Amino acid sequence: MSAMTIADIPAVRKVEQQCFPTPWPRDSFRHELTSNKMAHYVVLRQEALGNVTTTAAPLPKSRMPDIVRKFLGDKIHSQQNIVGFAGLWLMVDEAHITTIAVDPAHQGNGLGELLLGSLLELSRNLKARLCTLEVRPSNAVARELYVKYGFYDHGVRKQYYSDDGEDALVMWSPELNDEYFKSLFFPLRLILGHRIKWTNSVGN
Ligand SMILES: CC(C)(COP(=O)(O)OP(=O)(O)OC[C@H]1O[C@@H](n2cnc3c(N)ncnc32)[C@H](O)[C@@H]1OP(=O)(O)O)[C@@H](O)C(=O)NCCC(=O)NCCS
Repeated sequence: MSAMTIADIPAVRKVEQQCFPTPWPRDSFRHELTSNKMAHYVVLRQEALGNVTTTAAPLPKSRMPDIVRKFLGDKIHSQQNIVGFAGLWLMVDEAHITTIAVDPAHQGNGLGELLLGSLLELSRNLKARLCTLEVRPSNAVARELYVKYGFYDHGVRKQYYSDDGEDALVMWSPELNDEYFKSLFFPLRLILGHRIKWTNSVGN
């Protein structure tokens, strides 16, 4: 897991376009990374993963024809290997999760959970007391993931999504420093760690 950079944006947008019916406007990620002091975004790179079996591993750099390697140069790193991303805004002592997505070809392997866990860990490091987010009621997969980490429904924003007018469910985490959350989070992280090996945590 690493902090998102400007060079990551094209690859992030590719994943985003596959995951959301209405991707953010073109310049949003650039704005978030350069101008929004509350914003924190992470990406999950293919090579940070150990034993995850996925269906769409990119061609390793070493196996690319020389001409392709020469042409793409360092862009290979940022264009080809991002399998997921997520972000939040830290607003005083609340972390507002703004986005989380995993490349559809890699979904169902624990990577969404890895991203959410990283955001929760990041929130705790940033001294956030709580985490909140909006989710479509129809998004059963995401809701299951949030509930697994203790999030609960806390209201509805009517016709929140502009593309189809669907309401948003507002969900909140438990207090991130409470024993209840810690007793949920740390064992889940341990279990996930056995399923996935990743090389570092956020900020390293
Ligand atoms: C939501 C999303 C990030 C989950 O990522 P993922 O890598 O597919 O999910 P994981 O494999 O990490 O699964 C973690 C948990 O999510 C839930 N989940 C995952 N797939 C599920 C499915 N098909 N049905 C129900 N729950 C599911 C489960 O609680 C699962 O835990 P479990 O393995 O103990 O059952 C991913 O599906 C995605 O990118 N969706 C499109 C973008 C999106 O909707 N983002 C959320 C916006 S609010």
